[in-house]
Amino acid sequence: MTDPHPLVRLDRVTKTFRTPPRGLFERAGSVTGLEDATLEINAGESVAIVGESGSGKTTLIRQMLGLSTPTSGTVSFAGREVRPRQDSLGWLRRRTGLVFQDPYSSFNPRRTIGQSVAESLEGSQIEGDHRAMVAAMLERVGLPADSASRYPHAFSGGQRQRIALARALVHRPELLVGDEPVSALDVLVRARVLSLLTELREEFGLTLVTITHDLGIVPKLAERTIVMHGGRIVEDGPTAQLLESPTHPYTRELVASRLTLPDSTWRG
Ligand SMILES: Nc1ncnc2c1ncn2[C@@H]1O[C@H](COP(=O)(O)OP(=O)(O)OP(=O)(O)O)[C@@H](O)[C@H]1O
Ligand SMILES: [Mg+2]
Repeated sequence: MTDPHPLVRLDRVTKTFRTPPRGLFERAGSVTGLEDATLEINAGESVAIVGESGSGKTTLIRQMLGLSTPTSGTVSFAGREVRPRQDSLGWLRRRTGLVFQDPYSSFNPRRTIGQSVAESLEGSQIEGDHRAMVAAMLERVGLPADSASRYPHAFSGGQRQRIALARALVHRPELLVGDEPVSALDVLVRARVLSLLTELREEFGLTLVTITHDLGIVPKLAERTIVMHGGRIVEDGPTAQLLESPTHPYTRELVASRLTLPDSTWRG
């Protein structure tokens, strides 16, 4: 039987941050990172999140993954409420994976690649032969067989993002979230890592949520796009429709500015 719940659900989620006083006589203030966000993502969907810097994209995914507690509203995963304050969320870690933007700061330079990737298995308390699981996943993402025993400095940016994918997937999560996972890579490497991502999605039946500032990659990556602006979700719909006839003024601006950039990075 299929699960009647959406995989991810946010119901009127708001997140405000306290900001320290800037001067002796100023009061502490607050910044709204995310305002009144409601959305559902079904298993198997691929969703792109776009929007300018500071629009709330990272804040949104941090709520989804239980990495931050909402100020108000509720988050749930497969029908179960995500409550970071009350719950260690081991169950959610097992079912999700995350890839960050910066391939250079996301690995501990003193740990081998094998150790870094195995952290996901240890954290998820998955039983079995971790070494074999890590080796199989490193091979699947296209890395040389001896990678596990080497250190991060021996790898290029593109290879490190492959390692980051291996670490995010080795425990076989259902949801893979990327916060600008290819933004730091040059154009050709970006295209290859994106192709790998779409292959892995198919192969593992993943639900994908990817933040990107590059509208050019969105059509190939995601059939649905969410546009954020000033902490709010201002548009949410099928990618093709959104790019062809954006309704929100901000999305129109975004789409218009894309047309002045070189064509998508998917060629070559
Ligand atoms: N820990 C925090 N403390 C204070 N303010 C924060 C914090 N995290 C985010 N913010 C603020 O919340 C807003 C949304 O930030 P967020 O990081 O979600 O944006 P973003 O869309 O991911 O931007 P970028 O594209 O630059 O990564 C911004 O105004 C930001 O300054
Ligand atoms: Mg961000």
